[in-house]
Amino acid sequence: MSSYESIIKNRLERYRANPDNTITLGIETSCDDTSAALLRGKTEVLSMCTNSQIKLHQEFGGVVPELASRDHVRNLYPVVSEALKMAGLKPEDIDAIAVTNRPGLLGSLLTGVNFAKGMAYSLGIPFIGVNHIYGHIMANYLSAPDLTPPFLCLIASGGHTQVAQVNSNCNYEILGGTCDDAAGEALDKIARALGLPYPGGPHLERIAEDGNEHAYNFRSQFNERNSLELSFSGIKTAAINAMNASEIKGDFRIADVAASFQSSVINALVSKLILAGEMTRIPKIAIAGGVSSNGLLRKRLEDEARAHGLDFYCPDKKYCTDNAAMIACAGRLVLMENDPSPLSLDAYAVD
Ligand code: KG4
Ligand code: ZN
Repeated sequence: MSSYESIIKNRLERYRANPDNTITLGIETSCDDTSAALLRGKTEVLSMCTNSQIKLHQEFGGVVPELASRDHVRNLYPVVSEALKMAGLKPEDIDAIAVTNRPGLLGSLLTGVNFAKGMAYSLGIPFIGVNHIYGHIMANYLSAPDLTPPFLCLIASGGHTQVAQVNSNCNYEILGGTCDDAAGEALDKIARALGLPYPGGPHLERIAEDGNEHAYNFRSQFNERNSLELSFSGIKTAAINAMNASEIKGDFRIADVAASFQSSVINALVSKLILAGEMTRIPKIAIAGGVSSNGLLRKRLEDEARAHGLDFYCPDKKYCTDNAAMIACAGRLVLMENDPSPLSLDAYAVD
């Protein structure tokens, strides 16, 4: 056993013996946000500091991986330092580190993983690699500490759209999901075609407020089947075709396209999560990921959940998009039951 391994053995025993007071540092760098958070116990977020790279990538209409990793390198130390300052803590107060190590942009993931390893080694504390999707799901605990498995969770982000069944704190299975684009990716692509800035989801939501969601029919027969599989590429093509046709006819209204497309994506997501509730008879549904900060999605799910007798949970909006608090929460749960990661931990682009 190396000296690091023997040191962290004791620290881990203390961590597990004192689950409500341990301080976990979360680090998230899987895409274009450099985020650090300090968590006490299971759900008390002491501080969170996030540097968004949106401005850096906006002129390219999407994330440029090499620019993203370089910016993470520049920002990791300031972001972690700021999170510590906001929480009134010193590095020595940290008991464990949780870091996203999959899935995501490989270069971006590596910056966070290496930073976490260096810090864990120098402080002599355990660290754990966390799955980003699992982190998104666990964000629900930050806003609803009393939520307990089993529950269903729709993860809708820029890279993923899945319906998961959470069986226990550290175990979930994917029941279904998209066969092509992720929901956020589809929203971003149509927003871009409408000339809106990256990332398009929130801009589309704002524009859609003035639009008529019934102006265009972007329904997908695939999404209406009695299955948990989803597809967004068909409705995306339908939207592009409708935009071209409207432009030629001269009756193009950006707000109507935005409202109709957003509603079509949201209705598909809502129907699949409700269907999962019916199929599994699990009476609790939750949402996670950047798209779950969408007001219309939250409202429709709340209404549908009530109509179907299901309890509905949704994280605070700041814990829907990529953030380190969810990674700290997820990492702490894993560390309670599993070995910490070795210093040889790698990063993986896919899960
Ligand atoms: O979870 P996230 O921050 O990063 C990934 O892991 O992908 O999700 C980003 C996605 C983007 O596609 C963005 O357009 C979408 O979430 N998004 C939204 C909203 N806020 C962010 N989509 C719809 N409505 C929103 N308010
Ligand atoms: Zn994410």
